[in-house]
Amino acid sequence: MTHQIKTLQDYKETYQKSIQNPEAFWAEQAESFQWQKKWDKVLEWDFRNPNINWFIGGKMNITENCLDRHLETRGDQTAILWEPNDPNQPHKTYSYKELHAEVCRTANALKANGIGKGDRVCFYMPMVPELAIGVLACARIGAIHSVVFAGFSASALADRIKDATCKMVICSDYNHRGAKNIPVKKVVDDALSMDCPSIETVLVHKNTGGDIAWNSLDKWWHEEVDHQSPDCPAEQMDSEDILFILYTSGSTGKPKGVVHTCGGYMVYTCFSFKNVFQYHDNDVYWCTADIGWITGHSYIVYGPLLAGATTMMFEGVPTYPDAGRFWEVCDKHKVNQFYTAPTAIRALMAKGDKYVDKYDLSTLKVIGSVGEPINQEAWDWYNEKVGKGNSPIVDTWWQTETGGILITPLPGITDTKPCYASYPMPGIQLELVDTAGNIIEGNGVEGLLCIKYPWPSILRTTYGDHERCRQVYFSTFEDKYFTGDGARRDEEGRYRIIGRVDDVINVSGHRMGTAEVENAINEHPAVVESAVVGYPHEIKGQGIYAYVIPQDTIKDEPAFEKEVRDLVAKVIGPIAKPDQIQIVPGLPKTRSGKIMRRILRKVASGDVSQLGDISTLLNPEIVEAVKAGAKVKLVG
Ligand code: PRX
Repeated sequence: MTHQIKTLQDYKETYQKSIQNPEAFWAEQAESFQWQKKWDKVLEWDFRNPNINWFIGGKMNITENCLDRHLETRGDQTAILWEPNDPNQPHKTYSYKELHAEVCRTANALKANGIGKGDRVCFYMPMVPELAIGVLACARIGAIHSVVFAGFSASALADRIKDATCKMVICSDYNHRGAKNIPVKKVVDDALSMDCPSIETVLVHKNTGGDIAWNSLDKWWHEEVDHQSPDCPAEQMDSEDILFILYTSGSTGKPKGVVHTCGGYMVYTCFSFKNVFQYHDNDVYWCTADIGWITGHSYIVYGPLLAGATTMMFEGVPTYPDAGRFWEVCDKHKVNQFYTAPTAIRALMAKGDKYVDKYDLSTLKVIGSVGEPINQEAWDWYNEKVGKGNSPIVDTWWQTETGGILITPLPGITDTKPCYASYPMPGIQLELVDTAGNIIEGNGVEGLLCIKYPWPSILRTTYGDHERCRQVYFSTFEDKYFTGDGARRDEEGRYRIIGRVDDVINVSGHRMGTAEVENAINEHPAVVESAVVGYPHEIKGQGIYAYVIPQDTIKDEPAFEKEVRDLVAKVIGPIAKPDQIQIVPGLPKTRSGKIMRRILRKVASGDVSQLGDISTLLNPEIVEAVKAGAKVKLVG
């Protein structure tokens, strides 16, 4: 059995064991899974290349561990509980037996359509059960899934399809989202019109039954899947074969495809799920994330199913039909573990207590937070109003690249402190360093967050560009994985994540590269140059502030701003739309022509008290102009 930590002493001992002999520790965790062939060696690694291999020589299939392994012991237990967007529609359940059969049918349909081991399949789907089923069907036959969040634009989707040379796209016709009906298939059609020659089939799941255009590559999900056999042998996978690619933004260039492999990801997501949420048999667990992000991969699909849990999938949004929906659903399904993002908490908090106060919520045992720093006010509200003061909050820190939760309190085991992600999970060896790479020892200190030893679900590469992986994560500091985050270690050794130290911003828990947004803005014919920074936003955590230099005087500013926002939505997706657009005559630059983002960040945040020495700028006079046109009230 995967070890489930029970006491503080147990945590301390387990942590020590995991550090003193990581290979023995992880081998012990891995023993509890079904391996077609056991590994020959636990770990080989070199962070310089990087080259990281776990459970070398091991053969397995993650779906045998998510599904087949549970059939005898919990075949009739609900595996996936699906709650629809519309509260008046019935929810659906899939038992482990039913899910196994559906995954096998779908896997057979993929095979019948020419998909085999190593082929890439792109998903562009809302939160319907078929998304989880499709992902598992890929894993069943060794195909690599690349799920693209269904809020991205056609052009962003096309980029991802091309980068991974996907052979198939799986989508739905439309998506229910609150009161809206969003045309999903249309976005896929538009993406495919942007030259995606690798796509051979578009498999369309009928979700709403709305009108869609029908093209030569299109096939209906139900026509391909429903008649298939409910048995499909699991492909034998090497521990280090790719399980999936997931695109995420960085500080430069286009989003990169983070690669996770089968064996280590399986061991770590199950171990972390069981420990962080303290899941016990018959509990109902709900993570509100979208499967388009890593949180959905690791903690809606793989982690919970590996652990034999009942995992809920929610199609809707937190504010439909009103801001009490999350809590209504918690009561309805007697949810025991609830996992969401600070943005959602802040948005619901802003709607007023009346939406939460009328619900009982007494089944909740653990409530979690992920994706961005949770501020004290939101933490307090979550604790008092949702947890009623007796469900520990697990503020979980991790990244797409880490595959699983690395820093978190363990509920009821370690203490919690507002705004602190707290303690490292077993096997996680954290280090704080200064900009020169010197290790910062002791407590009560701040630095750049690094990890000095691999854990089983660390990324292996960035798809098709290993050098980029080396440069971004392993070259800043020798022999360390650099997270891109700054952190503080308090007197007792708890970690507080301060935020990104690179040009990545975190908007509503969604990672965005400032360069990506700038490139989109610069596509506007009237734009000469732009600079994008993050600024504190009450609900979103960070908002997007864009400084734009136009070619000529803009006569109709509101119309221009709308064009810029629409353009960004078209190139990336609505989530990347700037909140503030300031038209400027120039951007403050160093003598070598580098934009002084520090100054732009200060102005955007409204605090210009310490702008520092600007006399060395190429164009110091521009700072006054930037301040004069600021879209926020300035102090200092
Ligand atoms: O800055 C950190 C922030 O989100 C980044 C990772 O984003 P992404 O890969 O999209 O994964 C999000 C979900 C795992 C991190 O570098 N972040 C994530 N969790 C926290 C956080 N910041 C503060 N506190 C957290 N709990």
